[in-house]
Amino acid sequence: MPRTPIAAGNWKMNGTSAEARALCRGLSGIDQIAGVEVVLAPSFTQLGLVWDFWCGTDVHVAGQNMHPQPSGAYTGEVSPVQLAEVADWVILGHSERRQFFCEDDQTLALKLRAADAHGLTPILCVGESEAERENKRTSAVLTRQVSLALGDDPQPAGLVIAYEPVWAIGTGQAATPVEAQSACELIRSVVADKLGAEAADAVRILYGGSVKPDNIADFMAQPDVDGALVGGAALDSDAFLAITRAIAASA
Ligand code: PGA
Repeated sequence: MPRTPIAAGNWKMNGTSAEARALCRGLSGIDQIAGVEVVLAPSFTQLGLVWDFWCGTDVHVAGQNMHPQPSGAYTGEVSPVQLAEVADWVILGHSERRQFFCEDDQTLALKLRAADAHGLTPILCVGESEAERENKRTSAVLTRQVSLALGDDPQPAGLVIAYEPVWAIGTGQAATPVEAQSACELIRSVVADKLGAEAADAVRILYGGSVKPDNIADFMAQPDVDGALVGGAALDSDAFLAITRAIAASA
């Protein structure tokens, strides 16, 4: 089954609202690139303006995190109900959330279900740390992260998984295309074990970690890589446009 590839930009905790608006203007025309789904993930305070900017286009807007409960006494958190007013996608379990905010696989399973219940397409992030890689634990870590987050429920609608090795994020040291392929292939096989062959064939798996305009084509040449989750290069409109065009060209 052909899978539409994805170009997702994670802006992390960067920029003012004025800068977010300027970045959107710099990306104008991105919605006209055929054969690729574009997702932009700004900070919570910029979601409304980015959502309004792209209103009426096919560009998706994502939160970078979300609480699993629809409402309640959770100071500082944003619920799926609130997020769904200004976004249609959500990034869950980014390694920075796991590392600095103690997100665990069990919480992510709840968040994944909550996203599905509120019509938000989830990008579930998984990936091994440098120490886990050195100790040859990559397969075990990815298998655990994917299995526990998915649980035994049916596949959330439109599930997307991003393979982001922690050692490659923001370091300029991307995985090799062969490393990315073998991790994405393993992730697809874990989805097949949990949810069946059809779900595994449909799930889109992204590579993330120091993706740039000059390395994206090599990742996209891999059969199990269905796009990219881009951090640093997503803050540069020319670079993100170039990455998006390269992803579209690979389809
Ligand atoms: P990077 O970040 O592209 O800056 O390495 C990727 C990510 O954290 O999603």
